[in-house]
Amino acid sequence: MKAGASVDLAPPRGMRDFYPHQAGLREILFNTWSHAARCHGFERYDACIVENLSLLKRKAGEEIVDQIYAFRDKSQRELALRPEITPSLARMVCAGWNDLTFPLKWFSIGQCFRYERMSRGRKREHYQWNLDVIGAPGPAPEVELLTTALSATEELGLGPAIRVHISNRELLSDLLAYAGIPAEHHAALFLVLDKRGKLSDDAITDMLVDSGFTTEAAAKVFELFELDSLDAVRRLLGRTTAALEHSAAVFEGLTTYGWENRICFDLSVVRGLNYYTGTVFEAFDVDRRFRAVFGGGRYDHLLEHIGGRPAPAVGLGFGDVVVTEIMNEIGCAPSVPAAADTVVGYMEADQSAIALRVAHQFRRLEERVDLAMGPEKARAFFGRANHTGARYAIYIGPDDVKTGHIRRKDLEQRTETTISLRDLTGDAS
Ligand code: HAM
Repeated sequence: MKAGASVDLAPPRGMRDFYPHQAGLREILFNTWSHAARCHGFERYDACIVENLSLLKRKAGEEIVDQIYAFRDKSQRELALRPEITPSLARMVCAGWNDLTFPLKWFSIGQCFRYERMSRGRKREHYQWNLDVIGAPGPAPEVELLTTALSATEELGLGPAIRVHISNRELLSDLLAYAGIPAEHHAALFLVLDKRGKLSDDAITDMLVDSGFTTEAAAKVFELFELDSLDAVRRLLGRTTAALEHSAAVFEGLTTYGWENRICFDLSVVRGLNYYTGTVFEAFDVDRRFRAVFGGGRYDHLLEHIGGRPAPAVGLGFGDVVVTEIMNEIGCAPSVPAAADTVVGYMEADQSAIALRVAHQFRRLEERVDLAMGPEKARAFFGRANHTGARYAIYIGPDDVKTGHIRRKDLEQRTETTISLRDLTGDAS
């Protein structure tokens, strides 16, 4: 490129830059996620961002290549930027099996890349908080995962704005079998039904008819979605099933935690990923104006599928994009703290050494201090200090050095405290 020719200043399509304020918000979100995970006894892990393409294909088939960033390295290895962390987690657990203690409760926060059609709430890169429990078959892992995610939404001030819609693929299978649809069609049906909300019911009916269902069978499937409680399912089936009991226990556990107003039974949640086996859930804003805030479910066969030992597993992914959109929309986005508590400046080069020692001393007292890069006029210094949002400002001039005292201004209260340089730095100059 010719020197001076302009470059495109926008990031590549679907990617984001984070200016300090946005990076600050993201840091608060990550801290909230980690705090909630640690409070609930999850251990942190991390996986590589570049993954073997064969692992992703094993999990999702050849067509995944069109939906991800896949490439060859210089040695012609087939690789991809990970679209999610679950396959890498499964790989790590299979590889480390003999050294791990089960059930394991792990969390991670990592960037994922998907070659998505861009829409509101969907980018080509996002950060995802993952919570997974591997090695526990009962309903307890679902309860622990969901209570962890819900407490993070609570901590972010979103509590009543979010509701988790919970279903169970096995239960839907029980109902489909009851409606006369043979089991071999269920997996394909789940993937079509996941498009509900994105496509009209008529379009979905057409897809079902195209794949061999009668219009009556398709209508029966839609009728099932009217069932709005586990009791209604029990009444229709006229009996209980293992999936029904499992789901009832999940609701009971979450109710014991006090989340009964934040959860609902919703058979229409099936989830697009084909590895889910039982419980599936997605969290949405109550007005359903945004895409899913988080989603997950039980994937009891994934480890075995990639060559490991069979192990029950359940997990969720919670992205940074939608939750930030909702926080901004309802005005509960946390305020990002200023970069420094105290700004230290000085009038002339002669005072630079003392300003440096003052800054150093406050930093040793655990204060966050921003030291001026050079001498400044008082007006310029205080204008800048106010702009940074710092609480305190210390401006050192020749008279302060002479008297051996500096003044620390509280920019919020508009008060001033005098501090002896001898007390602060141990000497008077
Ligand atoms: P997922 O539903 O594909 O599940 O993604 C989980 C969450 O990640 C979504 O609810 C959303 O918050 C966020 N997300 C996904 N794609 C995008 C995107 N293109 N732009 C912005 N945000 C996005 C999974 O990924 C599963 N691996 C979760 C899981 C963990 N299941 C078991 N363990």
